[in-house]
Amino acid sequence: MQTAERGGFFMTMKNNVFIFDTTLRDGEQAPGCQLNTAEKIEIAKTLETLGVDIIEAGFPISSPGDFHSVVEISKTVRQPIICALTRAIKGDIDSAVEALKFAKRKRIHTGIGASDIHIEYKFRSTREKILEQGVEAVRYAKRFVQDIEFYAEDAGRADNVFLTQMIEAVINAGATVVNIPDTTGYCLPSEFGAKIAYLKEHVSNIDKAIISVHCHNDLGMATANTIAAVQNGARQVQVTLNGVGERAGNTSLEEVAMILKTRESLNTQTNINTTRLYPASRLVSRLMHMPIQANKAIVGRNAFAHSSGIHQNGVLKNRFTYEIMNPEDVGVTHSTIPLTARSGRSGLAYHLRNLGFTITPEELTKVYEKFLPLADMKKRITKKDLHELMISL
Ligand code: KIV
Ligand code: ZN
Repeated sequence: MQTAERGGFFMTMKNNVFIFDTTLRDGEQAPGCQLNTAEKIEIAKTLETLGVDIIEAGFPISSPGDFHSVVEISKTVRQPIICALTRAIKGDIDSAVEALKFAKRKRIHTGIGASDIHIEYKFRSTREKILEQGVEAVRYAKRFVQDIEFYAEDAGRADNVFLTQMIEAVINAGATVVNIPDTTGYCLPSEFGAKIAYLKEHVSNIDKAIISVHCHNDLGMATANTIAAVQNGARQVQVTLNGVGERAGNTSLEEVAMILKTRESLNTQTNINTTRLYPASRLVSRLMHMPIQANKAIVGRNAFAHSSGIHQNGVLKNRFTYEIMNPEDVGVTHSTIPLTARSGRSGLAYHLRNLGFTITPEELTKVYEKFLPLADMKKRITKKDLHELMISL
């Protein structure tokens, strides 16, 4: 924990965690989520107002359309760093340099596989040659752009000793950020956290670069792995809105932003304006034609809905009994008390009061007796149902 003396007091300084959004690159790779340039610009502008630090705008060599989108986003979005992805190949880097021509602040994200399984089967190469190719790519990219992020693909399954050599070598070659992806979503949070701690301890020049992580959600552990990495010294997280991305997706931006805000003990902060999370999430869902599951953390329809009688009773007395975040903090106007067959008297009384009814405890008992069989038949009780119940009293 860092401290600084201010006017005789020791103030705790929070560690800043940079938010690198890859919705427009890894997110857009998801089947059915493809976007055109106008849609990408709309999302990029939203990411800017959301406060993300870096936008990965695309992979320019991959298609003329993606190249064009990176150019247009670079012209339009001025506050965040605009980043372009490449493989450790000169042609990719040339294309990224060209696409980023108009960017006010730019970064190239280049890299290569680091696990033996990638080296042997994907590249049919050796550790030595792959390390050299990665170093060459960083040196080459550095000729054109100062801010170079290197990704060691499949670092989650890579040998830590080799990963250490690779990371040390690319930092010496000029990498400013070193990205440690759990490409296949394989790591356990304890393992992934330990990997970051290992790199911090063993990479001799690690203080010259920022450690980034990029986690996939194949086993549902992307967010947990990302947080474990932050706890062990990662200071940039690669994330996407709604967790969209390859296969089961990437770490969710909204989850990480709210964990870092809610859990004071992590002693971290981000530049995210969390009140813009919900509208940003809806925009991405709409443009990507990717519905958000109702129980999705932070932005799902039910994320602030209290359904059972026990919970409704608690929340109506004091919302903090069942709420660890204010819905307003994520851009949701208020929490809800849906009426279902699991609701209790206090939930029913709350809705009747909101409709303008003043009822005695005896009347409430009577209406509740009629309410339950109706709720057993219907998924959800509406205002009209409540009016009819009151008329039938
Ligand atoms: O999953 C991955 O490893 C990636 C890299 C390109 C960072 O998407
Ligand atoms: Zn990825």
